[in-house]
Amino acid sequence: MDRKVILTGDRPTGNLHLGHYFGSLKQRVEMQGDYETYIIIADVQALTDNFENPDKVRKNVRELAIDYLSVGIDPKKSNIFIQSMISPIAELTVLYSNMVTVSRLFRNPTTKAEVKQKKALFGNDGESITYGFLGYPVSQAADLTAFDCEVCPVGEDQVPHLEQTREIVRKFNNIYGNVLKEPEAVLSKTPRIKGLDGNEKMGKSLGNAIYLCDNEEAVSKKIMSAVTDPNKIKKDDPANPDICMVYYYHKLLQNDNLTNICTECKKGLRGCVACKRELITKMNEFLEPIREKRKYYENHLEEVDKILKEGTENANQKANEVLKRVKEAVKINYFE
Ligand code: TRP
Repeated sequence: MDRKVILTGDRPTGNLHLGHYFGSLKQRVEMQGDYETYIIIADVQALTDNFENPDKVRKNVRELAIDYLSVGIDPKKSNIFIQSMISPIAELTVLYSNMVTVSRLFRNPTTKAEVKQKKALFGNDGESITYGFLGYPVSQAADLTAFDCEVCPVGEDQVPHLEQTREIVRKFNNIYGNVLKEPEAVLSKTPRIKGLDGNEKMGKSLGNAIYLCDNEEAVSKKIMSAVTDPNKIKKDDPANPDICMVYYYHKLLQNDNLTNICTECKKGLRGCVACKRELITKMNEFLEPIREKRKYYENHLEEVDKILKEGTENANQKANEVLKRVKEAVKINYFE
């Protein structure tokens, strides 16, 4: 029986952190055996924001692949591939650009938030918004449909893009027949992961993240600076664990000492420094197997490249089949 297809992935713009892990990677690892799985390293999409920085994108392609492999994405079960090497994605993007209006693209909530950010950065005139940037959700629709993806495990910021894809698919199918599959977002059970500073989001650009590649020293330094209950001044002051980031991460890592931590904290029987030390130990225990795998792949880069090559070959085969179907439907299958 044909298995359903998963397609998901990330932009190669920097290392992945705990937010990525609990928001999406963990789920991909759990699901990969039950689906035909494709993981896209979206370098073309990364260029929409970093076209002046091609070295940064290039360097992070391999880094991202190593992040994937070190958390347990298994190349025997998942095809990890490079977006720019799949020309059907580029071709589909052009065809889909007729299926969406410019005003609809501006209304995409994720794009909107990004536009706001850009305006804050580059001034208020919107001049910095390129055609490529505005259109990246169209290219994401191509990423998804090029593989007949039906299931897409992603973080919640990607939901608007999935919705946009579904609209493009329906419009396309309405005009050209039932050609494309409609993908559905599958959200992780863990809601968005907060940053060490208590910010609602852990983010690369926010400087509040623990990276999957952080060493023990970095983890220790970061956790020591994590935000705790501001009303707790002395180590035996009672405090509220619900506003403490250290407690939040104890919960996230499912520390089996959790009830103790909570009552001790509330009664003023637990100092923050000791609590942080305990978290550092737990965090390192959690990260150690990931670090070990990373070390292996960093010492076997030729293996990483082989995995990427094979994943990309498989992806090309699949995407070319879908493209053939699409070209037939749009009647641009000349001389066949
Ligand atoms: N937009 C995603 C991000 O910013 C990356 C991405 C590109 C993606 N194409 C995709 C995610 C297709 C899921 C499916 O991280």
